[in-house]
Amino acid sequence: MSEQAHFVDESLLNKVPRWRNYLAAKLGFRNHWYPVKLSSDVLEGKVSQATVCGEEILLKRVDGEVKAIRDRCLHRGVKFSEKVECYTPDTITCWYHGFTYKWNDGKLCDILASPDSKAIGRRSVKSYPVQEAKGLIFVFVGDEGFEAPPLAEDVPPTFLDDDLELHCAIYEVESNWRVGCENGFDGLHVYIHRASELVPDTQRSLPIGHLAKSGDVLVHEEAGAPKGVYDAFANHTSIWEGKVDGQVVVTGTKRVSEKPTRTTAASLWMPCGLRVDDFPDQDITQFEFYVPVTESKHLYVMLVGKRVSTEEESAHFNHEFWNRWKPIGFENFNAQDIQARLALQTFYKRDTAWLDEMLIEGDSPLIKWRELCHRHARGIQKPEHM
Ligand code: FES
Ligand SMILES: [Fe+2]
Repeated sequence: MSEQAHFVDESLLNKVPRWRNYLAAKLGFRNHWYPVKLSSDVLEGKVSQATVCGEEILLKRVDGEVKAIRDRCLHRGVKFSEKVECYTPDTITCWYHGFTYKWNDGKLCDILASPDSKAIGRRSVKSYPVQEAKGLIFVFVGDEGFEAPPLAEDVPPTFLDDDLELHCAIYEVESNWRVGCENGFDGLHVYIHRASELVPDTQRSLPIGHLAKSGDVLVHEEAGAPKGVYDAFANHTSIWEGKVDGQVVVTGTKRVSEKPTRTTAASLWMPCGLRVDDFPDQDITQFEFYVPVTESKHLYVMLVGKRVSTEEESAHFNHEFWNRWKPIGFENFNAQDIQARLALQTFYKRDTAWLDEMLIEGDSPLIKWRELCHRHARGIQKPEHM
């Protein structure tokens, strides 16, 4: 266990009956798919480590397919990763007493220090369903016997579209995953981005906020489809000047464009995926995942996607990613988000903070998100799962 985890107090949970499961899910939701690595970081034959929802796992690519098992020996509980021993491509041997497991299903297939033990073949270390898509490795963190639904139900709509080319970068952020989700989706936090380099670079408009009544969101909760909340910023009445005592002290950027432009829209999808349409620029979609690692850390998976139909378009988008969207988007605009999350975490690390906040009208989309999660979580990750 990389960090001491604890339950959220029952008396606190009872105070938020409409989003109780969300408050309880400090380690995320069970029985969902989560991206844990770039495909390109898990090479054939190489063993890598990941922690998701507090569970420490090992990944290995065997004959092209990625396998995942729990990083904990059944015998005395030590981590295989302390000293990795793989004597055949499809097995891993515990360094301590030689318990040997199949990567494919986790089955205990040999014990090197006691080859006639009756335990052989009887037990399995936990193995995880794995899928690769869009350059990412997704792992299903589930209960035994729970059949994993299609990956398409656990990612934002359009994410898996064939013609959508995606470029990705992954960062670790020292905040709870829910703080990441809420920062990304929060319509009022546009305030922190007003001086970002992205604004002049893309010649876009960027207000500093919006009027209170703007906070209506569409809630998607059809069976068998992704569950999410969708906020169309086009419906907002934007605020361009911030005043104190009637004096303008802060301004947004308002440009009049000759060509019609679509307005950005943000949507947040279970278990932890954000989609921002027409961002960082027209015809580009930004996706983000805030994957629970521990109570106080999430994996910040960021992608920009564009529909391409020719090799030239693909090459152009690749060039644009490295020279524009990564430095000016991820490393400038989104660095402001990371700063905000670190600041939020110092408050929200206390469970009681979720009841001490003072939300206003424009924060209502966040409450819709919490309630949606409460209704559709397939399970709550608890410290005993770690
Ligand atoms: S602890 Fe792993 S073989 Fe004994
Ligand atoms: Fe942001």
